[in-house]
Amino acid sequence: MTKVLFVCLGNICRSPAAEGVLRAKVKARGLSIAVDSAGTGGWHAGDPPDERMRAAALNRGYDLSAQRARQVSPDDFETFHYILAMDASNLANLKDIAPPGHGAVLRKFLGKDDVPDPYYGGDDGFDHVLDLMEAAVDELLAEISG
Ligand code: 4NP
Repeated sequence: MTKVLFVCLGNICRSPAAEGVLRAKVKARGLSIAVDSAGTGGWHAGDPPDERMRAAALNRGYDLSAQRARQVSPDDFETFHYILAMDASNLANLKDIAPPGHGAVLRKFLGKDDVPDPYYGGDDGFDHVLDLMEAAVDELLAEISG
């Protein structure tokens, strides 16, 4: 089974949204793909996603309420086939902890672009993140299952 891990800074905004969108599409299409998310930082470990992100996601039918934040660990490189970072800083932090010779695909989720951090911005930022996640998840599924 292909295993996908999304990684942002706090694991309460961007990567939980990516996890929720991919989970929903995997379920709807009956695919066998495991999905998780984590943060490079551990400040929010154990917390549910940010309530603004939960609300924006639920508005589109994605229920993030069961998710809890956790910090990424070097062991994740043994477990997951794809480790997808939300921005360049997340990617740099992941490269710092990646065990030498790991077999995971490690890259930014959007390729060249960063997913902007909505944490300190207005409500529009959360919807924008969901727009980006929905499009990028479709591309990822075309890559994994195609
Ligand atoms: P995320 O957003 O990385 O998309 O989960 C953030 C959440 C919390 C913080 C920063 C970014 N923070 O500094 O607490």
